[in-house]
Amino acid sequence: MATTFNSDGPVLFFLFVLSLFGVRYLPLRDLVHLSGFQRQKSELNGPFSVTQAILSYSQYEQLSQRELKRMRASYSKLGRAHKRTGYDLGYTKKLNRLEEVTASNAEVTRAIVGLAKTELGLEVDGEGWIGEGQSPRGDLGKVRETLRHFVRDWSDEGRPEREEIFAPILEVLKHASSPAAMKVLVPGSGLGRLAWEISRLGFDTTANEISSYMNLALRFLLSPTTTTTLDQHLIYPYAHWFSHSRSNDALFRPVSFPDVIPRLTPTFNLLERDFITLLPPLRSEGEVGYDYIVTMFFIDTSLNAIATIEQIYTLLRPGGTWVNLGPLLWSPGAQASLELNLEEVIAVAEGVGFVLGPIDASKKKTMTVDCEYTADRQAMMKWIYRAEFWVATKLT
Ligand SMILES: C[S@@+](CC[C@H](N)C(=O)[O-])C[C@H]1O[C@@H](n2cnc3c(N)ncnc32)[C@H](O)[C@@H]1O
Repeated sequence: MATTFNSDGPVLFFLFVLSLFGVRYLPLRDLVHLSGFQRQKSELNGPFSVTQAILSYSQYEQLSQRELKRMRASYSKLGRAHKRTGYDLGYTKKLNRLEEVTASNAEVTRAIVGLAKTELGLEVDGEGWIGEGQSPRGDLGKVRETLRHFVRDWSDEGRPEREEIFAPILEVLKHASSPAAMKVLVPGSGLGRLAWEISRLGFDTTANEISSYMNLALRFLLSPTTTTTLDQHLIYPYAHWFSHSRSNDALFRPVSFPDVIPRLTPTFNLLERDFITLLPPLRSEGEVGYDYIVTMFFIDTSLNAIATIEQIYTLLRPGGTWVNLGPLLWSPGAQASLELNLEEVIAVAEGVGFVLGPIDASKKKTMTVDCEYTADRQAMMKWIYRAEFWVATKLT
């Protein structure tokens, strides 16, 4: 999932200079320019680019309707008796219900697009209606994934999932002696809830995310134009997947969000760019680097895990701490140059200079945490990650 862009010395230096002057947050439009997203067509049109995300959000309803049309066509191929049984079971009503809830989800995706276009001043080619026979350029899967992330990060329904994974991470941070003086970076922050929780502990926290699907969705929550009250938005995140479903009530249950209203603050920043290109922040008294880097379900999205671990090391100040939790699920299709096992990842971390553990009285270097990822808690299926958690120190 990670994308590595070529670094651009002068641009990065300029960003670094801005950071010296205390510029903590730049509008996306400026970052798009400054970080060089507009310099290369491939970057502008890449799978996680702003234009691709806007295109996908704006085509969400139409792409869903195309899928629904195929489902109706499959049903209509049934023999008369079975079609009658399906009808008596309410299957046609179920498909109609899917159409209705898709329209409801589309209110959110349209609002995301509206805000993004206002903030960016961007027109996206091909955003509108897809003609018959034309192949869609929007990515329905990524939009649906983001809807599930609203649940994971910002709904009451997602609370148990969050508690499982946030607890060990926040426990480490709660032991820091003076959070207000400490800088924390959360790379691959997704929809940002963990970073927000860390900022609520008093740390100066920077969420960092490359995917515009995530960033535009988070902006939709951060903006007083689109989100002002608790549980203002309603989505039907499970409706499109009929597998493992116990009932229509479970399938079409709505989830409201947000359970809290996040805003950017002086201690909650967002950096919308590639983690690999980040520079260590300048601290008072000439010191550079973050006190903590927290990676959750992140390092395995790297195309080059060694470069990612080296970058974590570079961005930390001497004595700084890397907190990690994740399952080592490498990107499919041999996208990653290396698909390392846990022992190999630990060897790389120690090789670059990290000291791992001990986690607790057991003196182990790592600890296993059973957890889920955007799970449907009412489904007839449960996928448990046996994620590994560690705390590593950069000694010098
Ligand atoms: C598996 S998701 C996890 C998201 C979040 N940490 C969570 O647990 O919900 C990994 C995230 O890392 C982001 N990501 C991958 N490579 C990145 C990079 N080089 N820079 C910044 N973010 C990146 C992806 O876009 C994705 O949102």
